[in-house]
Amino acid sequence: MTATALSRLTLTDFRSYARADLVLDGRPIFLVGPNGAGKTNLLEAVSLFTPGRGLRGSSLAEVGRRLPGEAQGRAWAVSAVVRAAGEETQLGTGVETAGASRRTVRIEGETVPPGRLADHLRQVWLTPAQDRLFLEGASERRRFFDRLVFAAIPRHAAHAQAYERAQRERMRLLTDAGENGGAPDAAWLDALEARLAEAGALMAEARATTLTALQAEIDARGERPFPQARLSLTGEWEQMAAAGAEIADIEAKLARALAAVRERDAAAGRALTGPHRGDLAVIHAEKDRLAAECSTGEQKALILNLVLAQSARLSRAESAPSPILLLDEVAAHLDRTRRAALFDEIEALGLQAFLTGTDEHLFEDLKGRAQGVRVDASGLTELDPA
Ligand SMILES: Nc1ncnc2c1ncn2[C@@H]1O[C@H](COP(=O)(O)OP(=O)(O)O)[C@@H](O)[C@H]1O
Ligand SMILES: [Mg+2]
Repeated sequence: MTATALSRLTLTDFRSYARADLVLDGRPIFLVGPNGAGKTNLLEAVSLFTPGRGLRGSSLAEVGRRLPGEAQGRAWAVSAVVRAAGEETQLGTGVETAGASRRTVRIEGETVPPGRLADHLRQVWLTPAQDRLFLEGASERRRFFDRLVFAAIPRHAAHAQAYERAQRERMRLLTDAGENGGAPDAAWLDALEARLAEAGALMAEARATTLTALQAEIDARGERPFPQARLSLTGEWEQMAAAGAEIADIEAKLARALAAVRERDAAAGRALTGPHRGDLAVIHAEKDRLAAECSTGEQKALILNLVLAQSARLSRAESAPSPILLLDEVAAHLDRTRRAALFDEIEALGLQAFLTGTDEHLFEDLKGRAQGVRVDASGLTELDPA
């Protein structure tokens, strides 16, 4: 079966684009152009065909085109045609009025909840913001790993959202009560913690399941030009799930733990236990060294290996769309051998991939087997296939 791929992408008043239209032939796409030309903007547009805030994590107002001097971004739209198994589906997203607080998502012209996008498109991405993934706090790694989880288990997003919402309410209840010198409503707290425990246990389980499968994939792929990684989830709840605990047991234990730390959480002003505290540890297997202690290039290669392994796994899933890859400024980090290996890998996976770079020569080895597009002030121009 051929992979899921965008066959057309149209942007209207999105970031730097008044209008852009790109017809895609299913092969990998490389976008070349100077800094600030709009390459990442284009990838960001694609990334909005997943629920959430896209690969920059931007607000809706930020992505609407704004001319110098204009106070507010315009209403914007991104639409795409997705081709899978010979069938085409029209996807669209955007805001109809400037300053809208929610974006609309349409599938075949019908407004649907954003979660439905996962029925048609899965995505895995790697951006320059992730270059410091192993040097930063746990939240960045959690977000990165959760994206890989979403791509495999879309309902993970809904659980994470439900968890966050209940968490915010619980903290508000705890801190408000503290300020008023009273005791928080225990029944209400119990209910919120039950919700937290339910969503949290499912989150921990989804992460642990994904990690196990991903590690197996990495091991099975063997030594590639990208370094082998040993992964682990260091959070208590993910570890419990990884050790084979039943979801119901994780849920019950998490609920008890939350009830036990109310006072501590209230004093700290934040929740001290739960899967929102989990972290991903990555070890460079051959060197037996934590990723944080590896060189910048090695770290990038490790992350790339994770992303490719997850893509390979998802490309075999029969009941789900195969993922598309967004690799922003990845080629420039790699030496020529690794770059060529990356291209070979993408080709072997048969997945649609969008790559960006400032220089055409980075993509020399892709000539003839990819679609090249120049991005500059005059817009998008297809490069000669020669
Ligand atoms: N909301 C917006 N409206 C108009 N231009 C924008 C908006 N957001 C970003 N830009 C412009 O987009 C450009 C950055 O594009 P980007 O895709 O990041 O470039 P690159 O090709 O280096 O990846 C900048 O020049 C920036 O001013
Ligand atoms: Mg960029």
